[in-house]
Amino acid sequence: MKCALVTGGSRGIGRAICKKVAVELGYHVLINYQGNEEAAKETLAILEDEGATGEIIKFNVGDPAEVKDALQRWSERHPEAVVEVIVNNAGIARDGLFMWMSPEDWSSVLNVSLQGFYNVTHFFIQKLLRQRYGRIINIVSVSGVKGTAGQVNYSAAKAGVVGATKALAQEIGKRNITVNAVAPGFIRSDMTEGMDEKELRKIIPANRFGEAEEVADLVCFLASKKAGYITGEVININGGIYA
Ligand SMILES: NC(=O)c1ccc[n+]([C@@H]2O[C@H](COP(=O)([O-])OP(=O)(O)OC[C@H]3O[C@@H](n4cnc5c(N)ncnc54)[C@H](OP(=O)(O)O)[C@@H]3O)[C@@H](O)[C@H]2O)c1
Repeated sequence: MKCALVTGGSRGIGRAICKKVAVELGYHVLINYQGNEEAAKETLAILEDEGATGEIIKFNVGDPAEVKDALQRWSERHPEAVVEVIVNNAGIARDGLFMWMSPEDWSSVLNVSLQGFYNVTHFFIQKLLRQRYGRIINIVSVSGVKGTAGQVNYSAAKAGVVGATKALAQEIGKRNITVNAVAPGFIRSDMTEGMDEKELRKIIPANRFGEAEEVADLVCFLASKKAGYITGEVININGGIYA
């Protein structure tokens, strides 16, 4: 059984990625979530409706013991499973001016994106190296590339993952494992729900927010066999915002 793990697969961009990776690439998808079980079940139903398969796996990517425990137990239950694709998508934002930023808002955002990347990817890395095939895709952000005022924590977390992407790609390229980052701009999801699209559109050359499906199409390509010679890249998908 060939599997793909998508962290934060219950909603938004992660849900769209789960669906495409399952339907278009034929992977059995592990849909990770942290708290929203209903949404995770809905994601599973969506891909099952399309004749694809998957299962739900709950853990907080930022909690090393929880990640290890959940993935270890899953691996023991599925000794035949081969995880080929890891999409580190789970992320949170806690915006505010740096001057007022609490230690909790700083560390929680870094913990989910950057530590989460370590916790999940590190669990699989030896297996990927042994199987000599893999695709690691990290969802970062335009903020991690150019920096965004009011998001010093989020920009730092995503920029950290960009650095990790480039470095890890160099370490493991020889083993046929690619590591890339996808950096979306404004994408319609719960994360951008309260934002003023009419106003923000003015700074987006494409004159609109993007759709989760558009990000998922790019991730799906990077996760496919076709993308074997692309590694260590950060690919912007932001409607033309100069990053
Ligand atoms: N939307 C945008 O405009 C945009 C732009 C650039 C980058 N991004 C990045 O794209 C990714 C997805 O964003 P989105 O807009 O789809 O966000 P979203 O709608 O808020 O969904 C976030 C997802 O991450 C999960 N999650 C949050 N914290 C988690 C944790 N500690 N452990 C496991 N799962 C966790 C959530 O699970 P629950 O449902 O269980 O809460 C949910 O599935 C994030 O990394 C975000 O930073 C988004």
